[in-house]
Amino acid sequence: MPSVADTPWDGLIVGASLATLDADAGYGGIEDGAIGWRDGILAYVGPRAALPGDPAALARQTIDAGGGWITPALIDCHTHLVFAGDRAGEFEQRLQGASYEQIARAGGGIVSTVRATRAADEAELLAQSLPRARALLADGVATIEIKSGYGLDYDNERKMLRVARRIGEALGIGVRTTFLGAHALPPEFAGNPDGYIDRVCEWLPRLHAEGLVDAVDAFCERIGFDAAQTRRVFEAARALGLPVKLHADQLSDGDGAALVAEFGGLSADHVEHTSVGGVRAMAEHGTVAVLLPGAFHVLRETKLPPLDEFRARHVPMAVATDCNPGTSPLQSLRLAMALACTHFKLTPEEALRGATVHAARALGLHDRGALRAGMRADFAHWAIAQPAELCYWLGGNSLRSVYIGGNRAHS
Ligand code: NIG
Ligand code: FE
Repeated sequence: MPSVADTPWDGLIVGASLATLDADAGYGGIEDGAIGWRDGILAYVGPRAALPGDPAALARQTIDAGGGWITPALIDCHTHLVFAGDRAGEFEQRLQGASYEQIARAGGGIVSTVRATRAADEAELLAQSLPRARALLADGVATIEIKSGYGLDYDNERKMLRVARRIGEALGIGVRTTFLGAHALPPEFAGNPDGYIDRVCEWLPRLHAEGLVDAVDAFCERIGFDAAQTRRVFEAARALGLPVKLHADQLSDGDGAALVAEFGGLSADHVEHTSVGGVRAMAEHGTVAVLLPGAFHVLRETKLPPLDEFRARHVPMAVATDCNPGTSPLQSLRLAMALACTHFKLTPEEALRGATVHAARALGLHDRGALRAGMRADFAHWAIAQPAELCYWLGGNSLRSVYIGGNRAHS
């Protein structure tokens, strides 16, 4: 067997504290820690004092972090960041009293972003979307979920999903794509939602055959699709072996959480109006609750998700930006974590776990989200004295570096 010296690690960082999150509770803190990796995988996570040799000899490159904390790189498990245009005008309308639902029913909302997204070609859509992914990366995010749902026809949904893949390639970040054809009813199907769902179910296998779909989502809501229509989309996903997730119970209780749980779904997202029965179903099927405090904040919602029920039944809670032009023009996962603490009273530890360990689970990823030998070398170094600062500062730039698969990323 080759000695450690024969097969040096690619990199080793010493001189920072570690929040490994490698246990069911607590930060998994290690003071004066060390983190070493090889071939994109963590080879050592532990105290500097327990390193199996002289730090300078263990790795090709040894870096002294000079303090601060290293955490798992953040994971944004719910975004709609591929879109064209913006909805700043709608923001102004809402401030003058119009509701999100009223604007949507009047032909604005999601459908106005559909118009802009259809009008942009692939290069233009990429150019408009990349800065948002860069902003997330600059805030410590190494894995991003990106949904379609502003195309609402085959070619434009495909264009969105292709752009999502290209963002991953351009930035060297992990991208998981989610097909959200059932996001809103496009104008050409007005009065015929079932006919539209027929089309969605036809497009899915074609898009999947091109390698463009990692999961399937729907908007189950009064202004979206009903439970029966959502169920048909989920059945089409199940036929392909694709995991499902759901925009569930955001504006009203439509039993969405129970529905997605019944399909063994990865996550129920928003969940402000989810009933105790829905929480029970999620607990039973291991479905993660994805909390989206950005949308809650922007829409000035007041109905809190059933947080104590989630805790009592050990439903993991993830936190994501929901980055989208309507309800959550939020380009910082750290700010989402801060909002989750303030609005939802998550502890900073719950918020960090929600943007790492539980976010990975909401995407069905088992190789990231915590710092442990054998996991991907995705980690972030922060200039902070204690982990709670990740949620305490609103804005600022405490990120010192983020490594993705062992490579230092540059946004
Ligand atoms: O997660 N609720 C549906 N989808 C998005 C909003 C999309 C939009 O308004 O453009 C959400 O809040
Ligand atoms: Fe969303």
